Amino acid sequence: METKEKRGARAYIGLAVLLALYAAAAVMTPRVARSSEMLIIGGLRLPVSTMAGVLSSLGNICIICLVVFYGKTGFILALASLLVQMPFWIRNCLVMQNTASIPGFFSSLLTTVAIFLIRSRDRRIDKFRQDEVEQLKKTQQITQSLFEDTATALVTAIDAKDEYSHGHSMRVAEYAGRIARELGKTEEECRKIYYAGLLHDVGKIGISDAIINKKGKLTKEEYEEIKKHPVLSNQILSSIRGYPYISIGAHYHHERYDGKGYPDGLKGEDIPEIARIIAVADAYDAMSSNRSYRHALPQQIIREEIISGAGTQFDPEIAMVMRHLIDLDSEYRMKEREAVKELAGDNEMHCGPYRSEISDGIHITRAITHISLTYRDEEPRDDQTAPAIILFDSLDARVHDDEKTIRNLNYYEYCEIWLDGQTVNHGVREIRTKRTAHEPAAPADGRAPERTAYEVAAVKCRDHVLIRIDNGRETTEVTIALPDSSRYVYIALTGKNCYISDVRIEQEANPVPDGFIPRIAEEISYIDGPEGDLPNVQVDGIRTAASAGVPVKDGMRISFHTMSLPTARLIWHCPYIVLFRSADGKVNGEGYREYAVIRLDGENWEDNKEAQSRIIANREDDFGGWDAWKKGNKEGFDCTVHFRREGNRITVSTRNLGLSVKDITTITGGPAAEETEVYAALTGDQCALTNIRVTQE
Ligand SMILES: [Fe+2]
Repeated sequence: METKEKRGARAYIGLAVLLALYAAAAVMTPRVARSSEMLIIGGLRLPVSTMAGVLSSLGNICIICLVVFYGKTGFILALASLLVQMPFWIRNCLVMQNTASIPGFFSSLLTTVAIFLIRSRDRRIDKFRQDEVEQLKKTQQITQSLFEDTATALVTAIDAKDEYSHGHSMRVAEYAGRIARELGKTEEECRKIYYAGLLHDVGKIGISDAIINKKGKLTKEEYEEIKKHPVLSNQILSSIRGYPYISIGAHYHHERYDGKGYPDGLKGEDIPEIARIIAVADAYDAMSSNRSYRHALPQQIIREEIISGAGTQFDPEIAMVMRHLIDLDSEYRMKEREAVKELAGDNEMHCGPYRSEISDGIHITRAITHISLTYRDEEPRDDQTAPAIILFDSLDARVHDDEKTIRNLNYYEYCEIWLDGQTVNHGVREIRTKRTAHEPAAPADGRAPERTAYEVAAVKCRDHVLIRIDNGRETTEVTIALPDSSRYVYIALTGKNCYISDVRIEQEANPVPDGFIPRIAEEISYIDGPEGDLPNVQVDGIRTAASAGVPVKDGMRISFHTMSLPTARLIWHCPYIVLFRSADGKVNGEGYREYAVIRLDGENWEDNKEAQSRIIANREDDFGGWDAWKKGNKEGFDCTVHFRREGNRITVSTRNLGLSVKDITTITGGPAAEETEVYAALTGDQCALTNIRVTQE
C-alpha cells in the first residue's frame, strides 16, 4: 500500500507541474499572439499567433485542475495566479488597444467565474460530509452511552444478587483499567478492558442465590455450580456482537497461567490477555475486600500473594504490574471502603458503652478534611455528653484493640479527643487545646441543647495535626505533635450512649501551605548524623525525597548509611537507587527520563521504552530471612553500591544483610545511548540516608 509520505510527495510534484505549466502558458501566450511568423505543419501553413488561443486554454485548464484537485490551497493559488495576470490583460486591451488580447482577457474572466463556482460546490460537499460525520459521531455516542448504561444496570443486578460483593465488579473494572494503562495500552484498549472487567461476573445471574450467598463452606456440587459462571457469562455476553472482547474476558477470567484453571484449562499465553488482566484484578479485589468471615487483608500480605502467584496463578508480567500498583498505593486506597464512605450522607451510629461502635478511619492529609455530624445523647445519660474521635495509624485504617492485630497491622493510637475539647494522650509528644467562645453566648437556661451539630476540620502538616471543632457555641482548636512526620493519621468517630447522624465528610482540593499549623514541638529529624559528599536525605514515604544525582562513571562507588524510619514496617521500606537522565542532573528535573529503579530488597521496576533493566537478587548463606532483613534495616547499616559502565550498559551491584543485588540496565533509546550522561541518585521508602560519599575505584 502507498504510504502517507509517498502520497504527499506525489501531490507536491503534481502541484508544482500545474503551476509551472500555467506560468509557461501565461508567459508564452502574449509573445505568440504578437508573432507574425508562420508555422508549417505538413502542407498546412498557419500563423504562429493562432497558437495563442491553445496556450491560453492550456493555462486555464491548469488553473481549473488546481481548484479541482487541491481544494482550498489550489483555489488560493489559482486566484492569485489569475489576479497577477489581470493587470497585463487590462493594460493590453485598454491602454495599448491590442484587440488580439480581448479573447484572452474574457477567457481569464470566465475561468475566474468557473473556479469560484467549483470552490462553492466543493464547500457545499465538505459541509455535507462534515454534517454526516457529526451525525455518525452522535449516533456512536448514543450507542456508547446506551451500552454503558446497560452494562452498569447489569452490574447493579449482579451486585444486588451477591450480598458480599459490595461493588466488586466496579473495582475489578477499575483495577483492570489501571493495569492496562501500566501495560502501555491505548485509551481505547483500556476502555475495552475496563468494560470487560465490569461485566466479568455477569454469569452469576444464572447461579442460585442460595449458593452465591451461602455463609459456610461450599459443597463439591455447589462449587461445581459456581464454576459454571464464566461459561454463563460468555453465553450472555456473546450476544453483544459489537464488543466481542467482553465475552472473551468473562469466559476465561478463571483460567490460571499454569493451566490449572477453569473452564477450559488454558495455559500461559493461550489465555487471552484481557482475561489474564481481569484474573489479576479479580484476585486482588477478592483479597482487598471484606468478607463475612474476615476484613480486607493487609496490603503487604496481598503483595506477597501476588508475587508468589506470578507464573502459577497469574501471568508474571501482569502480576508485576499489579505489584507495582500496590507499591504506588502507599495509602492502601485500592480496597473496598465501606463505613467511611457509607458514613457520609444519611448514615448514623448508635453508640452504647464507650468505643463499642467505631467508624472506619478517615485519612487526614495536608488538604483539610471537613467532617460534620449531628449528635444526641441517649439513655443511660452520662456527664460526658459529646462524641469523640480517635486518632490512630494502622495498616488497614481501622481501630483495633486485640494485641495480635495491633502487632500485625502496626496499629498505633495517638490520642482521643472528645468533641467538647477533652483529650487523652496515648502516644504523642504534646497536645495543646485552645477554646474560643462565640457571640452570642450559650442559651439563657444554661442547658445544653438536645441536638448538637458539630463541624470538625482536620489537617496534618508533617509531624503536626490540627483539629478544629465548632459546635456553634464555641471553637476548640487542638494541636497535636506526633511522634514524627512519617506516620499516617486516621480519625475514627465514636461516642458513649449517644446517637450520631447526618455525617458528611469532604476534603478540600488543595493542600495547606507550610507553617499552617504553628509548631508546639521541635521537628524530629532522623538525618542529623554525619554528612558526606551529598546532603543527607530523609525519605518519609515512597520516593518522597531523593539525593542529588551523581553522573555514573565506570568504577564509581556510592556509600552511605541507611536506617529505616520508625514507621517502616514492610520489606520494601528500604533505600532505592535510581538511574536516570535529566538536563540538570536532578530526579524529576528538566527532561527527566528514568531508566531503572533498583531496590535494595532485590526488586526493580522497569517502566520505560528507553532502557531494559534486569535484576538478579541472591540470598547468600548469611541471609537470615525477611524478618531479620526488616530488623537490620531498622537498626541501620552501611551500604556500598558499585557502578560499572560500558557504553550503554550500566551494572549496579551491592550486598547487604545477606542479600546480593545486581542490576544490569541497557539504555536502548534516547539521544545517542552510548554518550548519554546517566545519573544515579538515592531514594527509597521510609528511610534516612546519611553520610553519602561518592568515590572512584
Ligand atoms: Fe468470577
